[in-house]
Amino acid sequence: MSDAPATPQAPQSSPISQVPPRPGLADAQSGVARTGDARTGDAAVLLRSVYKTFAADTAPVHALRGAGLTVAHGEFVAVMGPSGSGKSTLLNVVAGLEHVDDGSVTVAGMSLASRSEADLARLRRRHIGMVFQFFHLLETMTVADNVVLAARLSGVGRRAAVRRGHDLLDLLGLLERADSLPGTLSGGQRQRLAIARALANEPTVLLADEPTGALDSAGAAEVLDLFTRLHRRGQTILMVTHDHQVAAGAERIVTMRDGRVSERPGAGS
Ligand SMILES: Nc1ncnc2c1ncn2[C@@H]1O[C@H](COP(=O)(O)OP(=O)(O)OP(=O)(O)O)[C@@H](O)[C@H]1O
Ligand SMILES: [Mg+2]
Repeated sequence: MSDAPATPQAPQSSPISQVPPRPGLADAQSGVARTGDARTGDAAVLLRSVYKTFAADTAPVHALRGAGLTVAHGEFVAVMGPSGSGKSTLLNVVAGLEHVDDGSVTVAGMSLASRSEADLARLRRRHIGMVFQFFHLLETMTVADNVVLAARLSGVGRRAAVRRGHDLLDLLGLLERADSLPGTLSGGQRQRLAIARALANEPTVLLADEPTGALDSAGAAEVLDLFTRLHRRGQTILMVTHDHQVAAGAERIVTMRDGRVSERPGAGS
């Protein structure tokens, strides 16, 4: 697949309202070398036979044992499965936060194998957005500054970052709270702000690890509604959840068990 015409990294002016799926990424600008194999270029995320073992005090822990998963551009996939089955490890591997022992991990057509930490960080900055159960907001900065800073850290110029922050807060229904501190928001609003931050780099894939785990049912519904809207706009989402109702909002549900991924027939319909 040929690369899309390169757009300058900074300043960027593309409005967030055009959050596109990103086949054929222009990676020259990101400084991330393309080592992916052409056949994998169409998937946002591709894991093949991934193994990851953690050394532990007693016996080694085999967190991933041949995990395989393909997430197409624009797909919204939910990952379910028992505690300890490897769900968070899987997300960390996709984000390049954990190295794998065996198998291959490809994000936006680029293999994560044999990359330096700096290269992985660049790739993350360009392609990955992450949200977690406990928000991780900067509590002493305003709502708006939380998002603008995230955009700046992704390499966007100041004016473009302010504009992007404004657009994201508008999209996520937080504009009227732009000057508030995060501590004054409800749980659902706090998670929406965390999602706005995670989208500030217009990531290829949004990774969410139990994003509704700390929310009441109203907050969970807010977040799920937002994910549904983002998905409709083309955002690729890979979300871990223990909540069947939340998972049902995804396009496809896969289940992890003992470090492997299986499709759940009939899910998402
Ligand atoms: N850094 C680590 N060091 C040692 N063991 C780890 C590490 N990270 C994860 N593990 C182990 O790997 C296994 C899989 O963990 P993981 O966090 O991926 O599970 P999970 O499916 O996300 O569980 P939960 O639903 O409880 O969040 C567990 O046995 C866990 O204890
Ligand atoms: Mg987990």
